[in-house]
Amino acid sequence: MSLVKCASGAAAFTLIHLSDFHHCRPGTAGPDRFLNKRLFSLLSWRLRRGREHREEHLELLARAVRAEAADMVAVTGDLTQLALPAEFRQARESLSALGPAERVFAVPGNHDALVKVPWREGLGVVSDFMAPDSGGGQGPPTFPTLRVRAPVALIGVATARPTPPFSAAGRVGAAQLRRLADLLTETARERLFRVLLIHHPPLPGMVPRRKALTDAAALCALIRRCGAELVLHGHCHRLSRSQAAGPAAPVPVLGVSSATARSDHPERRAAFRRIRIRRGAHGWETRVQEHLLAGPDA
Ligand SMILES: [Fe+2]
Repeated sequence: MSLVKCASGAAAFTLIHLSDFHHCRPGTAGPDRFLNKRLFSLLSWRLRRGREHREEHLELLARAVRAEAADMVAVTGDLTQLALPAEFRQARESLSALGPAERVFAVPGNHDALVKVPWREGLGVVSDFMAPDSGGGQGPPTFPTLRVRAPVALIGVATARPTPPFSAAGRVGAAQLRRLADLLTETARERLFRVLLIHHPPLPGMVPRRKALTDAAALCALIRRCGAELVLHGHCHRLSRSQAAGPAAPVPVLGVSSATARSDHPERRAAFRRIRIRRGAHGWETRVQEHLLAGPDA
């Protein structure tokens, strides 16, 4: 693990956050693959989305991410647009370009679960990037997933599940909420800096209802009770900073734009965030910096 020395001399942990690659490969699949919700997502891609994403933007960001030599890279879902096998293979290449699987930790997004896909053809292709410290096993990991890289605990939450056409909603679910409460409590006891990775934003009102987390209230109540030091999410395709109520102090909630986005608006342009974390004399200290691709007028 590489450690960055701050001005004070104390070691800082560097975490990088990217999201929403939306790799799209419709030409690689037969027509039978589109006799489901994929058809709607493909239409959206042809009409609008396809003009909003450029894979070369992610390649530029990946080069800058590698130069950062961060301790960990977090990726919060929507690796693919249509959940097609060729898209997952491309996602694997993109994740590998950010770093080795032990230093890159991802959670799925709603597009990665657009339709039911056999594990081996879908998220299984990137399973080592989603695996917890306890190992990946043969099938899907049990979420929440935990990786501890002291002084940081990264906790991956899965909110993606197949939904009807025109819905991009997510759900944590009662079983995952129960396990999450246990993990947050255990990692607090170990005095770790707890980072939740989640695709859908946890706060109500950040996206329209059809794109929202259906049990956001339950997740917010859990964060209020058990606490966390930071929440990182994707899904909104814009740089945002909000807060969730915590047991003692507000918990920062940071959203990042799509890593392939092209936009005139800086908050919607392809970007990653670098977060430096260190334990100071009076508690945790974090420094957050946004890295945006240069705009069209740069
Ligand atoms: Fe997305």
